[in-house]
Amino acid sequence: MRLKVQTSLAIISVFAIFTRISATETICNGTELSVYDDLDIGGLTEKPCTKVFGDIVIANLNGGKRMSNYWTIEELYGSLFIVNTTNLGDSVNLQNLQTIHAAESPALVIRNNRGLRLAIGARLGHVSTGSNITYWFTDNWPAAMTESEHYTLFMASDKNRPVFYTDNHFTTRQCDGWYYKLWTFVFGTLCFMVSCALIGLSFYGRREETKKGI
Ligand SMILES: *[C@@H]1O[C@H](CO)[C@@H](O)[C@H](O)[C@H]1NC(C)=O
Ligand SMILES: *[C@@H]1O[C@H](CO)[C@@H](O)[C@H](O)[C@H]1NC(C)=O
Ligand SMILES: *[C@@H]1O[C@H](CO)[C@@H](O)[C@H](O)[C@H]1NC(C)=O
Repeated sequence: MRLKVQTSLAIISVFAIFTRISATETICNGTELSVYDDLDIGGLTEKPCTKVFGDIVIANLNGGKRMSNYWTIEELYGSLFIVNTTNLGDSVNLQNLQTIHAAESPALVIRNNRGLRLAIGARLGHVSTGSNITYWFTDNWPAAMTESEHYTLFMASDKNRPVFYTDNHFTTRQCDGWYYKLWTFVFGTLCFMVSCALIGLSFYGRREETKKGI
């Protein structure tokens, strides 16, 4: 029992230290993170930006780049535009993004990109915008985001019903009923097996105790 308490205390303190370290913030201007052609990439800030004020524009790029600057962003006070790019792949990664407070434009404007795999993390929990469109995704091939990322965006939106302006056609088959049924079956089976194992374990443990009692 005491060991358990000590362990949990240790875990809590490690967690506290970790959150304090990660709480240090670096403020950037959106222009420091914006690129309008391939040559601009060298001029991107090296700062580990966590809070960004102003729009981020990523435009007219061709080919995969190393752009790790977006990884650290947690709060964006502005919009993110990604337009007219080809073959960026997963160069733009926003795994740590938590909030977007856009002004007049949609929070995300993803237009006319070929071969873009935008990574939006599940940490995104709050999106607001003064625009009557929340997310603008048009003319991207293939779809720049996965369905689960769309779900994250849907849940994060300020309004009850975020407005997606999009022509996305999903190439994945995730919408199909059989897909969900398959996973429901797999998880159901797994849960059943785990329950059986737990019940078995508890019986086993009890028998040991009674043995000890004797
Ligand atoms: C960002 O910097 C530009 C000039 O580099 C300036 O015009 C703009 O007001 C700045 N934006 C914010 C939000 O500070
Ligand atoms: C993207 O391309 C369109 C058409 O080629 C052009 O009108 C627009 O200005 C471009 N956007 C940016 C941000 O460069
Ligand atoms: C959004 O507002 C603009 C005018 O500001 C209007 O033209 C447009 O139809 C509106 N769109 C939606 C989806 O309400």
